[in-house]
Amino acid sequence: MSGEGKLPEVVTTAAEVRERVGAARAGGACIGLVPTMGALHEGHTALIERARADCGYVVATIFVNPTQFPPGEDFERYPRDLEGDVRKAGEAGADLVFAPPVSEVYPPGDCTFVEVTGPPVEVMCGAHRPGHFRGVTTVCARLFNIVAADRAYFGAKDYQQLLVVKQMVRDLRLPLEIVPVPTVREAGGLAMSSRNRYLSAEERDAATVLYRALSAAGKKAAAGESDPSALVAGVKEMIGGEPLVEVQYAELRDAETLEEIVRLDRPAVLAVAAFVGKARLIDNVVFKP
Ligand code: PAJ
Repeated sequence: MSGEGKLPEVVTTAAEVRERVGAARAGGACIGLVPTMGALHEGHTALIERARADCGYVVATIFVNPTQFPPGEDFERYPRDLEGDVRKAGEAGADLVFAPPVSEVYPPGDCTFVEVTGPPVEVMCGAHRPGHFRGVTTVCARLFNIVAADRAYFGAKDYQQLLVVKQMVRDLRLPLEIVPVPTVREAGGLAMSSRNRYLSAEERDAATVLYRALSAAGKKAAAGESDPSALVAGVKEMIGGEPLVEVQYAELRDAETLEEIVRLDRPAVLAVAAFVGKARLIDNVVFKP
């Protein structure tokens, strides 16, 4: 459809999305969807670029989803920049931006949630952010229904989210493919995140310890360390040496099921969450023995 760099059309209603997507599909295009909460950075634009490469018509959604913020979190102050986002989405190759008001995604009187249960949502971020993944799967189910895409693109930075969304798609037999995209990092290794905007220069520098610690664990694992608790202890110790960073969790788990492992004898994910100033940041690396 439109070429890269053009300003995409911006719509705010599900009916407009359906109309535009229906027309694109009638013209033979495969439909790609990139759900985001906006404040776009290069992690998001990598997803849009990948969708552009794969699909004839690309929809990016910008919606700060209230249901995925547990009480007391940063919903109110989450960064919002629609104008900048529309420009960046267009530069990355989006054809359409869907930026609905809350009432369009959650119409008044609405009372349906979609909830994945079991280990993938009970551990790591699920244990520390009650209701978070229920909000994520609910909004994704709604967006998938509105857009009716063939493919939806998700970042590996939010590893647990990727697994939970895949689980929902599998369980509900939703007719779309979830495509994972590798984590995009700043030069110092810090994973790009909309919440990095909360960091001072000093905090941003300190936050690079997350990826340094994960990388150091990766080197130890490659050198033969296969005891998950030793690897996790190393990560916590290294992050603990950085006074501006406070670890919330560091865990090494089965890469598919997120179950605990006693030896690093299968693909595993080493995931961390930490507070840096006002920001809660997450990062992970996957080990494949
Ligand atoms: P948001 O944090 O805006 O992220 C939107 C998408 O961008 C997610 O798939 C996320 O994994 C991906 N992403 C973020 N930072 C990235 C990075 N550094 N490298 C690669 N991909 C990155 O995740 C959400 O929004 C929401 O939970 C959402 C799925 C939109 C549902 O509301």
